[in-house]
Amino acid sequence: MKIVDSISKYRGLLESIPRPTGLVPTMGYLHEGHRSIVREARLANASVIATIFVNPRQFSPAEDFEEYPRDPEADIELLDSEGVDFVFMPSVEDMYPDGFDTTINVGSVAARLEGKYRPSHFHGVATVVCKLFCICRPDRAYFGQKDIQQCAVVDRLNTDLNLGVKVVVVPTVRDDDGLAISSRNVYLSSDERDAALFISRSLFHVLEMWRSGEERSNMLKSYTRTVLELSSLLSIDYVSIADPQSIEEVERATTGSVVAIAARIGKTRLIDNITLD
Ligand code: PAJ
Repeated sequence: MKIVDSISKYRGLLESIPRPTGLVPTMGYLHEGHRSIVREARLANASVIATIFVNPRQFSPAEDFEEYPRDPEADIELLDSEGVDFVFMPSVEDMYPDGFDTTINVGSVAARLEGKYRPSHFHGVATVVCKLFCICRPDRAYFGQKDIQQCAVVDRLNTDLNLGVKVVVVPTVRDDDGLAISSRNVYLSSDERDAALFISRSLFHVLEMWRSGEERSNMLKSYTRTVLELSSLLSIDYVSIADPQSIEEVERATTGSVVAIAARIGKTRLIDNITLD
């Protein structure tokens, strides 16, 4: 496995990398969710490129950019053990040099749900993903369903700007008790972690309720809120049932609709979702 720490070094290698190539963008502090994405990429591509870059542009000033957990040595070990070919780890100055002045602004898909609570977040995500696609020129790029709206934003960007990448969505990996694995779970105390379990629990319940025949979104959403409100530590940002591509709310939940939740527990904000199928 080769570690590439600058855009110019990556450019120098580009022509020699066997295709097809699969790109796995990450912000590091890798866990089993990232591992499963890497494995999926490994199965389908001649070369796998993982990127580690904590992207300052997707954090608002009030968010946790400085404190975001980092452990590059452990990350490199995990990626090496999964047979990744290249790790691209550029510096912030290399990605955003003095004078950098372009922002990718994806429209309504990015404005909903997370966009309401983190107004500049998807500008930052879209800009960095677009840059990573331009630098690495992958045939395929892999993203986790855990961040379903991010998948929709990347898909829109990729289609609208004719970037020509196949965007692959990989299922969410959960701990044994159901909690979706996230780099931010390290912030949770043990009581907070117990409270966080209400999120996945409510998603599994709502899936059962839908499977038993309830299709009215309002009913499903209010049931989900009732389960979440059982925990006093948890405060809900949104409960949504939406189309996975447009992220538009649906009145009737059908196969493929996504139930998404964002909630705050103490200082930690968690998101999770489930596809109705
Ligand atoms: P990061 O949070 O490091 O996540 C990298 C990828 O791992 C994303 O596609 C995310 O959806 C996926 N992922 C996270 N937790 C997962 C889980 N439990 N199961 C499956 N996949 C999971 O998302 C980002 O970084 C950034 O926004 C990025 C796309 C790298 C742009 O900066």
